[in-house]
Amino acid sequence: MAYKIKTWYAILVLLKFVSQLQNCAHAAPQVPCFFIFGDSLADNGNNNHLATNAKANYHPFGIDFLNRTDTGRFTNGRTTVDLIGRDILIGVNYASGGAGIRDETGKQLGGRISLNRQLQNHKVTFSSLIKLLGTRELVANYLNKCLYSVAMGSNDYLNNYFVPGYYKTSRRIALPGLGPLGSIPYAFSNICRDNVATIVANINSATQIFYATLVLLVDRLNRDLKDAHFIYLNRSGISSRDPSVLGFKVVDVGCCPIRSDGQCIPNSNPCKNRTEYVFWDVFHPTEALNQFTATRSYSASLPSDAYPYDISHLVKIEL
Ligand SMILES: *[C@@H]1O[C@H](CO)[C@@H](O)[C@H](O)[C@H]1NC(C)=O
Ligand SMILES: *[C@@H]1O[C@H](CO)[C@@H](O)[C@H](O)[C@H]1NC(C)=O
Ligand SMILES: *[C@@H]1O[C@H](CO)[C@@H](O)[C@H](O)[C@H]1NC(C)=O
Repeated sequence: MAYKIKTWYAILVLLKFVSQLQNCAHAAPQVPCFFIFGDSLADNGNNNHLATNAKANYHPFGIDFLNRTDTGRFTNGRTTVDLIGRDILIGVNYASGGAGIRDETGKQLGGRISLNRQLQNHKVTFSSLIKLLGTRELVANYLNKCLYSVAMGSNDYLNNYFVPGYYKTSRRIALPGLGPLGSIPYAFSNICRDNVATIVANINSATQIFYATLVLLVDRLNRDLKDAHFIYLNRSGISSRDPSVLGFKVVDVGCCPIRSDGQCIPNSNPCKNRTEYVFWDVFHPTEALNQFTATRSYSASLPSDAYPYDISHLVKIEL
């Protein structure tokens, strides 16, 4: 904290100095200011006072940095942003080693300043500048001239996606199959009116290949990835139950009037009794069918609804 305040003070003093100078400046740098958002590739010491393993304020880091090893830069000398910004007198570096675009990224390393929090810190800068320059407009005009560097994402891979042991929330994965493509109104309306039965059978047998492969994939992933759990949701099976049992009355046309390409006509009046329709347009189910699919996916009522088990079981698994 002390570090931050000191930095701030220095920046504000500098800003004041520069804004006075600008009145009689001859040659200005191409941009007057530089703001940096990033991770360890740009961090210049912001992590030094955080409780984290992602620190670089010790030897041999910084060994080529003007004899100082304690700057906190994650390299032997200057960083890319140091070099890009070397002629720019003022700016703020918000970068933090271990940080990512996602808030949780890098949590196994300890404290870090995620992109969200770096942006919040920039808001604080903005407020401080208003105090200094007077109005919001003046600050906005000033900041419009600055250079911004936003370089993040490595840690979202290296310290999140590729270290699943620390990020167990994403280890329960449901793979819904396709809907019943052979039974959507599109199949009746556009493909071949004369030979609906054959067409539907063809579509259904073609998609069987996909389903069978998906089920095998679920088996393989569950076998190979010991700390992950995958399930298959049989969406076509779920929604192919006799629709009349579910209170649906219209199964072969969509609720919304459609154009020749099957899309809902803009600003048209959809059917009123929407809970009686299976389909909203020629492709997409209505909310009523979605509700039904969701309920059955969560809690299967037939063994074929989900494989090897439903979502209610998936979410109860201890990771
Ligand atoms: C770095 O260290 C060397 C030897 O200790 C010294 O001669 C030199 O002046 C130092 N440079 C800076 C920039 O402090
Ligand atoms: C999906 O459900 C249907 C109907 O219950 C069933 O015939 C089919 O075998 C199931 N498909 C898969 C891949 O489990
Ligand atoms: C839906 O309502 C319309 C009138 O609003 C009616 O003509 C139509 O038959 C109804 N559809 C069903 C499936 O009951």
